[in-house]
Amino acid sequence: MSISKIRMTTQSMSRRGFIRKSVTVGGITLCAAALGAGCSVPRWRHAVRDIRRPPVISNEKRQLFTELVRMGTLASNSHNAQAWTFAIDEEGISIFPDFSRSLPVVDPTYHHLFVSLGCAAENIVQAAPSLGFQPIVNVSDSSGTKHIRIALQKNKATHENMALTIPKRSCSRSTYDGNSVGRLALARLAGAADDDVNIDLLFHPKELTAVSELVIAANTCQVNNAAYREELKSWIRFNKRQAYYTRDGIFAAASGSPTAPPWIARLVFDRAYTAKNENEKLRAQMASTPCVGVFTVKGNTWKDWINVGRVCQRLSLYATAMNIAHAHVNQPIEVSSVRRRLASLLGRSGSYPDLVMRIGYGPSMPRSLRRPVHDVLQSPVT
Ligand SMILES: Cc1cc2nc3c(=O)[nH]c(=O)nc-3n(C[C@H](O)[C@H](O)[C@H](O)COP(=O)(O)O)c2cc1C
Repeated sequence: MSISKIRMTTQSMSRRGFIRKSVTVGGITLCAAALGAGCSVPRWRHAVRDIRRPPVISNEKRQLFTELVRMGTLASNSHNAQAWTFAIDEEGISIFPDFSRSLPVVDPTYHHLFVSLGCAAENIVQAAPSLGFQPIVNVSDSSGTKHIRIALQKNKATHENMALTIPKRSCSRSTYDGNSVGRLALARLAGAADDDVNIDLLFHPKELTAVSELVIAANTCQVNNAAYREELKSWIRFNKRQAYYTRDGIFAAASGSPTAPPWIARLVFDRAYTAKNENEKLRAQMASTPCVGVFTVKGNTWKDWINVGRVCQRLSLYATAMNIAHAHVNQPIEVSSVRRRLASLLGRSGSYPDLVMRIGYGPSMPRSLRRPVHDVLQSPVT
């Protein structure tokens, strides 16, 4: 997902102590500072601080619901496309798909889109008790639109700290340190599963190697597909300025790639985003990962996908609370022939693997931003 084979070199320059970064790709050397890559940094930093902000407690129900929507937007979601809108009324919050932000190449069936909606719902469910509400979730298309309804009943506020964990969670696509995850922590993570969604936590070297091979096989198919590359490129935010103004997409630095002005970075991407480079990076990431979680369900409907999203988000919050890093590697889900091979590897041929996640210990990465709540809130019906 990121641009490999780009070498960042830092050189000390002149008496003014000027630090200049250069990027060398296939013989092209680019000077990031000279190209103005550092623009908008304070505003970007401010936006990052803003998404890390814990929920604000107030006496106003609407303000509390708005904070819960903000917690929803912080959820994991495919390509950070944020393909959702939210509606608030007196009794609760509804979450709707925003198909204008779908990903036709990587997600033609809207699988990832509905998983992402499930992730957002779970954040709201986890945050609600500490803001004084008991959530009741219902998934339906009764009004002709597929949506998630979260009824929120007033309750005594609890002291659970999940609401504080939500703003801290983010994917860490770094290489991990290889340290294994202890049995107790694994048991806690496994506790995120429910009656419908199974989690296989794989940690035997043979299983990890087998999954890694499937990730590489699927990644090779994807990276060699021009439409896939173009779609991905359109969702990468190549520097802080672009990330700040769009507040969506995958921030290049979140995948460990150097930042540069978009017009330059797109040229670099075209040269450097190759199956060979990406597989090399993925192999190192997988080899450093002590545990892989695979989420599986029996059904393959949009309601199943929402359930998977809820369980996956819950697991990633449990992991964050224990300082355990996580990152998606869903290539095997996105290529249908490889998805079938993954199901049979797990001994679950009658079921559908829906998500694959690396779990381990590693540094956190720069954050991908989110659009502000007013951009994703439907205006109230008057
Ligand atoms: C359904 C789904 C599929 C995803 N697939 C991938 C993936 O294959 N590779 C990856 O690096 N991240 C993947 N992600 C993670 C998102 O890119 C990430 O959540 C998003 O960029 C926002 O970043 P954050 O979670 O760090 O806030 C996926 C997330 C979801 C919900």
